[in-house]
Amino acid sequence: MAERKINRLIYDKEMREEKIAEPMATLQLFITNRCNLRCKGCFYAHKLGQEDMPFEDYQKHITEHLDLGIKKIILLGGEPTIHNDICRMINWNAGKGLKTTIYTNGFGIEKFAQEDLSQCDIRIGVYGLKNSERPLAKIRKPDFPVTFVYMLRKDNVIELLPAAREMEERFGGTKLFISAIRDILKTQDYWKDTDETLTFDEYFSAIQNFVDSYDGNMEIHIARRGVIETDIPQEKVHHCRFGNIFPDGKKIICPFDISREITTDKLVFGIRPCNKNSECLLRKIVLARKK
Ligand SMILES: C[S@@+](CC[C@H](N)C(=O)[O-])C[C@H]1O[C@@H](n2cnc3c(N)ncnc32)[C@H](O)[C@@H]1O
Ligand code: SF4
Repeated sequence: MAERKINRLIYDKEMREEKIAEPMATLQLFITNRCNLRCKGCFYAHKLGQEDMPFEDYQKHITEHLDLGIKKIILLGGEPTIHNDICRMINWNAGKGLKTTIYTNGFGIEKFAQEDLSQCDIRIGVYGLKNSERPLAKIRKPDFPVTFVYMLRKDNVIELLPAAREMEERFGGTKLFISAIRDILKTQDYWKDTDETLTFDEYFSAIQNFVDSYDGNMEIHIARRGVIETDIPQEKVHHCRFGNIFPDGKKIICPFDISREITTDKLVFGIRPCNKNSECLLRKIVLARKK
């Protein structure tokens, strides 16, 4: 594993850092292999195809893991909004007291217009404001609240700040998640950079510049990716809280195992030590503007 350099993020006194809640045991269901896009660097590219997870399998997977303390369900794929039963899934989860987050490219979210989304976060991922294969400018504003993910890569750092402003002004966005696309598929190694990925130093600079310039009111969730620290100590999490299930029923624990397909017969939550790092790479920093 490459040597890890920690960068300390500086933010001004108008911002405060939120204490991160105890990570929740989270089941990630890749409910479809279908997708209406072919994004550059997609970590799921090798699995894209035609298969859906049948609704009965979906219910079975969740029911089987409820005893293990699952609190949250993430739906993704492929493009989860393509699945014919996605609204049924959200409602079924709410009936079980489970919160749902849907990761989507935002091009099929109209189908949620009539749904009760009080227990559901529709999280639209964008790769730019005007440019890229998924710019914010191409997303139609829905009549319900959404959150956003901005996935950084070399060619879109410049549009992060104007995109954040647009999320707030046009969509009334309240939360922005920032992370970066890593080329784990090509390299099979989370830590290796390729010419298409931001280096960890470039990622840190992009985040620091954004934090220095952003003057809006969204809550900013920044993936630490194991390399960004702040002055406020956060509890380190050494155990994997994720379980991932694919349309064919295969299971993996750490999402970073996806490119290697390190499958398991049995999911465990909050027990398996992280085998990538001394701390979960998916931990984040949350910054909010002081009221
Ligand atoms: C595989 S996608 C599936 C859901 C949906 N189709 C979407 O793109 O939002 C899930 C999330 O992973 C992100 N993602 C895709 N490729 C990635 C990569 N190579 N590294 C990190 N995140 C990636 C996407 O931007 C999205 O936020
Ligand atoms: S929309 Fe999502 S699943 Fe589809 S290609 Fe892009 S990142 Fe991959």
